[in-house]
Amino acid sequence: MRLDLAIRGGTVVTASDEFIADVGVAGGRIVAVARDLPEAREDVDATGLLVMPGGVDAHCHVDEPEYMGARLADDFASATRAAACGGTTTIMPFANQLPGLSLRQAVEDYHERAHGKALIDYAFHLIVSDVSGSLIGQDLPALIADGYRSFKVFMTYPGYMLDDRQILEVMDAARRGGAVTMVHAENGHCVHWLSQRLEAAGRTGLDSFAESAPSAVEREATHRTIALAQITGAKVMIVHVSSAEALEQIRWGQDRGISVLAETCPQYLLGMGHHLHEPGWEAAKHICSPPPRGEDDAAQLWRGLQQGAFQLVSSDHCPYRFASGDGKRSQGGEHPHFRKVPPGLPGLETRLPLLYHEGVTQGRLTRQQFVALTAVNPARIYGLYPRKGSLMPGADADIALWKYGEHRTLRHADLHDECDYTPYEGRDLSAWPVVTFSRGEKVWDRGWVSSAAGRGRHIDDRSPS
Ligand code: URP
Ligand code: ZN
Ligand code: ZN
Ligand code: ZN
Repeated sequence: MRLDLAIRGGTVVTASDEFIADVGVAGGRIVAVARDLPEAREDVDATGLLVMPGGVDAHCHVDEPEYMGARLADDFASATRAAACGGTTTIMPFANQLPGLSLRQAVEDYHERAHGKALIDYAFHLIVSDVSGSLIGQDLPALIADGYRSFKVFMTYPGYMLDDRQILEVMDAARRGGAVTMVHAENGHCVHWLSQRLEAAGRTGLDSFAESAPSAVEREATHRTIALAQITGAKVMIVHVSSAEALEQIRWGQDRGISVLAETCPQYLLGMGHHLHEPGWEAAKHICSPPPRGEDDAAQLWRGLQQGAFQLVSSDHCPYRFASGDGKRSQGGEHPHFRKVPPGLPGLETRLPLLYHEGVTQGRLTRQQFVALTAVNPARIYGLYPRKGSLMPGADADIALWKYGEHRTLRHADLHDECDYTPYEGRDLSAWPVVTFSRGEKVWDRGWVSSAAGRGRHIDDRSPS
């Protein structure tokens, strides 16, 4: 067989090993990983570079409906472009069920939004916001049968918050079909009550945001999620874990054999909570839910990664612009108000380089752990493996070549999303992807980005977990 592509002489990094080899690609798939592969139509010299499976970002928000008066900055074209430039080759955004729409209609709507726009491949998680009518009895089982294997429920946010009974029903239906229930674990009643108290005391500035959702709010909801998982036997993923107290609950559940998986994100590993106390509007750049905490929580989250309590590091990319258009700054009039800034941070393009720098370069993670947390585990948990997240023969040729050992400063001006800031401006990076392949096609090469929007495909052959 004639190879279409040979990536030669790089350091191949998998979740278990690293070694120098060539990677051979034919028909968009990896066909060989070995020394001295035969001639190919295209040769890429990867000497001195790392050759890693393209990242799988299992938590991002793309082209969702307006929330708190703001629209997300990225549609499928810009989100997948930014992801590819950051070494990610699969994204898992949410199809968000709007009130009055069936979950099936939501799914069809998101297929439309992605169609003709995506540069890399994608699969959807479904946000369940309305557990009425035929949802539990018919819609969920039918969607699971069609290959949708992950559902997110919220314990907070007006319009999304489900009660325990409703969450039990979703978990039970998901379990029957071998699907994962993702849970946003914050107690919405507590957030609401605390927010009203802060408002009554005239404490409406952005520095009140963290106080409106302290760790106890997350810890309680995390514990409750684990109890509901135990009771139903469902497999649950606690998403965007921010605090040491929530992590303790997760360990408690895992130690007892309850099926609880967990995800954290760069914004929590970097201990950025102090930014929420910056004056004026500046803090809005760091408002997300749960709130970023301090250094002590971050140190515990790193331990959780090292010890395997967390399976995933995802971005939770949720890009509201800061200053332009209907961005964070323009919400709630002239004065910043902690309840009026839409929560969410951009992060699709920066997830991998930040985690590599803070994790691998700083000696907290091995490269093998990095690949597991960012590519292999998300693909496995959500039914995409070994097609995605793998460099084994037969896998899609989704590959990132990384330069390492030099330093550069992270600047929003160098990123490719449609947001107008990065919360990580000025941070040091010591490794970044220089070339990204999606199914053997170059989509990013040292400053050049493919314009082939629409080549990205929905992954519809997911396996039950
Ligand atoms: O603040 C956040 N995380 N925004 C995105 C929505 C969510 O809860 O994941
Ligand atoms: Zn959430
Ligand atoms: Zn700041
Ligand atoms: Zn999210």
